[in-house]
This record gives sequence, structure tokens and C-alpha cells, in this order.
Amino acid sequence: MVRAVRGAITVDRNEKEDILDAAKELVQEAINKNDITPDDIISIIFTITPDLTKAFPAAGVRQLGITSVPLLDLAQPNVEGALEKCIRLIMHINSDKQNSGLHHVYLRGARVLRPDLLEDTYIAVAIDGPAGAGKSTVSKAAAKDLGFVYIDTGAMYRAAALFALEHDMDPVYDIDGLVSILDEMSIKISYDRRGQRVFLNGEDVSDQIRTNDVTKAASAVAKIPEVRARLVKLQRDMAERGNVIMDGRDICSTVLPNAQVKIFLTASVASRAKRRYKELMEKGMDTTLETVKLDIMARDKNDSEREVSPLKKADDAILLDTSDMTFDEVVECVKGMIKKVI
Ligand code: DC
Repeated sequence: MVRAVRGAITVDRNEKEDILDAAKELVQEAINKNDITPDDIISIIFTITPDLTKAFPAAGVRQLGITSVPLLDLAQPNVEGALEKCIRLIMHINSDKQNSGLHHVYLRGARVLRPDLLEDTYIAVAIDGPAGAGKSTVSKAAAKDLGFVYIDTGAMYRAAALFALEHDMDPVYDIDGLVSILDEMSIKISYDRRGQRVFLNGEDVSDQIRTNDVTKAASAVAKIPEVRARLVKLQRDMAERGNVIMDGRDICSTVLPNAQVKIFLTASVASRAKRRYKELMEKGMDTTLETVKLDIMARDKNDSEREVSPLKKADDAILLDTSDMTFDEVVECVKGMIKKVI
């Protein structure tokens, strides 16, 4: 029977090599996920956004050694608000599978659809929990497996903290000063093969926001209602554009109160400290388990005792205590909850 597999991928740069690599990755993943061979492919159609001009994706398919399949490249019109540098795929295949058994492939954040193709309802998964509970690693892994977009809201508070520090403002004391320049702060999120990237006023700050100073400042910035209001709006806008797993502190209660799946992911202070300490050691950082533990306790206190949107389990969120679970067990458990609603 003839079936159609859909897919999309974003491209890092408008360069021939990047475009061909992305096309190859997309087609190879569609082949692997659907357990077919190149002989099962009937035809492949690509559409590309107008910002990709340096190569046609079809040439990448030829490089995969798929030489006898009809290929077509189509240019997509410029749609305001659409994903940038994106290749979309429709691959017709011979398959005995039902439509519901096909695996569509959305890679590197390409799940967000063009705004003119928006469906009425998307699945929103909200995951809250304290620092070091493993929210981001678990959410990332579940999102990748299920083709959802992972949105790390903590990174946005970190970018706001970096903005304050770059303006020599102490987010604990210079609140009025910081609020008065918030109009100059532009935070944007995009995706590439490394995952979510955070831009502060046009600059990619994804790595800079992971320092200790920014971590501490983020907890203070997150207490400021004007900052929260801006970031919550950005987060909600993103959730309206695709299936998302969003993690943070107030996602279940404030950002996405209508999320179809709500989870409060936590673990004991001791096991969170142990995991974080191991991570820091692997990164070659110089610290002690006791210091990590004290940092985590201080952040818990800050995040839970603030007035606006304190960290707290929403009444309708499912409590998942991962203290005695392996990483794989947690991911499977979260995926199981999501699969019930898709
Ligand atoms: O998850 P994280 O460590 O990257 O978060 C950085 C800080 O931002 C943390 O102190 C809590 C705060 N935060 C928040 O208040 N609300 C969110 N939705 C996400 C993070």
C-alpha cells in the first residue's frame, strides 16, 4: 500500500554542506524509524524555506545512494512567524502499515509548524520541580523520542539574569533599575542540532547562562513580577505553536494551567546534590558535595518562598519522586503518561 511519511528538520546555516547533511539525516531517520529500505521509497518531495538558497535537499538524497527515486524540491513562500531555515519532507513509501503505525520524523526542533498550518489543539506537557531533580534531561529525552519540542524556561530566567549582570545591576537590590530597562531586553529561543539555543538581544548566550554567577542571579531575577510577566508571555506563545514539553517552576499552575499532562518531578535533597555533584565533576568544576547541597537548599528556599509563582506542586499535577529511580525509568514513566493523551 502507498503511505506518506512526513518530516521536517532545521538547518544550522544556509550553506550547501549543512543543507545536504540535514536532508540526508531527515531521510535516513525516516527510513530507520519506519523500518524500510530505499527500495520501498516511491518518491520524495521536499519544501524549503526561502532563506535556504545554497543547495537543493534532493542532492543530499543522491549522496545517500538513492538514485532511482523521483525527487522534487519546492520553495515554500515566506510566511511570517514560520520556522527559519527549515526543510520539510513528504516521502511516499510502499508499506503494509496502517497510517497510524507510520513514524513521522521531526528533528532539531522542527516540530513547530508553519503558523498558517496550525492545528486547533496541541499537546502541552508541563513539568515543574526543584533544581537538580533532572527535569531538563528527562524532558529532553522524552521530547526527542516523542517528536515534541522541549522548552527550558529556566534558560529564559537565566538570560534575564545575564541581562541584569551585563548592566551591572544586582537583581536583589536594583529591582527598580532593572525593571526600568526591561524594554531593552529581548530574549528569543531557537533550535539547532545542539537543541534549544537562547538569544539575548541577538547574541547566542546558551553557554554563558550556565555559570554560577548567572545561576544565583537567575533565582533573584525570577522573583521580579515584571520579568515573570514577560517570560510567561513568551512561553505561552511558544506552546501555541506545537506539541511541547515545558519545564520550570510554575508551568503547571501559571504558564500552562490547561496542559494535558502535568508532572511535579522531584527527588530528595541528598540525591539531587549527588547527581549535580557528579555532573559538575564530569565538567571538571572544583567544588564539594556539601557546597552543592547547600546551593541546592538555598535555591529551593528562594524558589519556594518567593511571593510570585513560588515553586509548589499544583493540585492536579502528578508527583513523581525520582530519588530511587534510574534515568531510563523516569523517562519511560514520563513518556507513558504522555502516550496516554496522544
Ligand atoms: O531550572 P533552572 O535552574 O535553569 O532555573 C533558573 C532559575 O529560574 C531558578 O532559580 C528558578 C527560576 N525559574 C522560575 O522561577 N520559573 C521557571 N518557570 C523556571 C525557572
